[in-house]
Amino acid sequence: MTIPLSRTQLALFFILLCPVNIIGLWWAVGSPLVMDPNSICRKTKRLAGKQAELCQNQPEIVHEVAKGAKLGVRECQYQFRFRRWNCTSQNKYFGKILQQDIRETAFVYAITAAGVTHTVTQACSMGELLQCGCEATRSRAPPRPASSSSSTTTSGEGVKWEWGGCGDDVEFGYEKSKQFMDAKRKKGKSDIRTLIDLHNNEAGRLAVRNYMRTECKCHGLSGSCTLRTCWKKMPHFREVGDRLLERFNGASKVMGGNDGKTLVPVGQNIKPPDKQDLIYSAESPDFCSPNRKTGSLGTRGRMCNSTAMDVSGCDLLCCERGYRDETVVFEENCLCRFHWCCVVQCKKCSVRKELSLCH
Ligand SMILES: *[C@@H]1O[C@H](CO)[C@@H](O)[C@H](O)[C@H]1NC(C)=O
Ligand SMILES: *[C@@H]1O[C@H](CO)[C@@H](O)[C@H](O)[C@H]1NC(C)=O
Repeated sequence: MTIPLSRTQLALFFILLCPVNIIGLWWAVGSPLVMDPNSICRKTKRLAGKQAELCQNQPEIVHEVAKGAKLGVRECQYQFRFRRWNCTSQNKYFGKILQQDIRETAFVYAITAAGVTHTVTQACSMGELLQCGCEATRSRAPPRPASSSSSTTTSGEGVKWEWGGCGDDVEFGYEKSKQFMDAKRKKGKSDIRTLIDLHNNEAGRLAVRNYMRTECKCHGLSGSCTLRTCWKKMPHFREVGDRLLERFNGASKVMGGNDGKTLVPVGQNIKPPDKQDLIYSAESPDFCSPNRKTGSLGTRGRMCNSTAMDVSGCDLLCCERGYRDETVVFEENCLCRFHWCCVVQCKKCSVRKELSLCH
């Protein structure tokens, strides 16, 4: 699918190429802009060394990296759809989020690194990249039989298990995400901030790599399952998003240690964050009103839930400014019928919906 770029989109595209940090670039891609790795790579002078190298030598991987970043954007917008900060991809505001050390920044880095890990790995499994493929599983120990189905054997012999099929080579995606996302930054960022970003990138990648699941298939006469073939699959990306949102909610505050090279948790008796935790060093703004400096769009006009007590409820989402109810009528397909063969015909029905909108 190709989408022709309008002139404004093109202009935007080139503005976007200016941020030194490439993730700002990927992230702005929430717009329906088609990422063309070639034109990104033509601008490699602006990218740091490792990224430029990848661009030149493995443009098809860069293409997957761009897709991965988009996947991250979409998931971020899904996870934050009912929150004050909704992961808007409006570039001006988005860039500001990336320049801070707040929880939202942590989530953005983590979900992007996770998206890249996931997408590159998926491309390997689909045979879309020359550099990788299905996971080579021969060397691994056989999977543990699940106790429930091993009892189905009648001969007294155990069920045989083998690795086979097409496992996801998550190590490859993990490495590429690392190479691209952790590439050395140009100057201008403090060491502490770099440490925090790198930690959150890793947390994102681990949210994929540490949650591989085993899938199996039975072989043998009429379901006798005398042989099972098993392989490793990545978690669905939605699960990755859910997990990172949990880490966002429980994110740990840190500050720079005395040596300027380590991070220490803020507050007493606080367990140091582990590798999968998200970390931040500055408190988030409240995101109630628009503010260019903090990258807040404010919540005026946002849809809220008048019965919910959590962050999606009108009290919290509208920052206690109140809300108005509005009835919107929209058309929906309904009474759809399938005609042999092969058309579906639908009627248009008007649907009324009550919405609450923040003042
Ligand atoms: C996110 O919030 C902004 C500003 O309040 C709003 O304009 C936009 O429509 C929201 N996006 C979504 C997907 O809800
Ligand atoms: C609003 O909140 C209530 C209570 O939490 C929930 O049951 C309902 O599904 C929410 N409605 C929407 C549209 O999300």
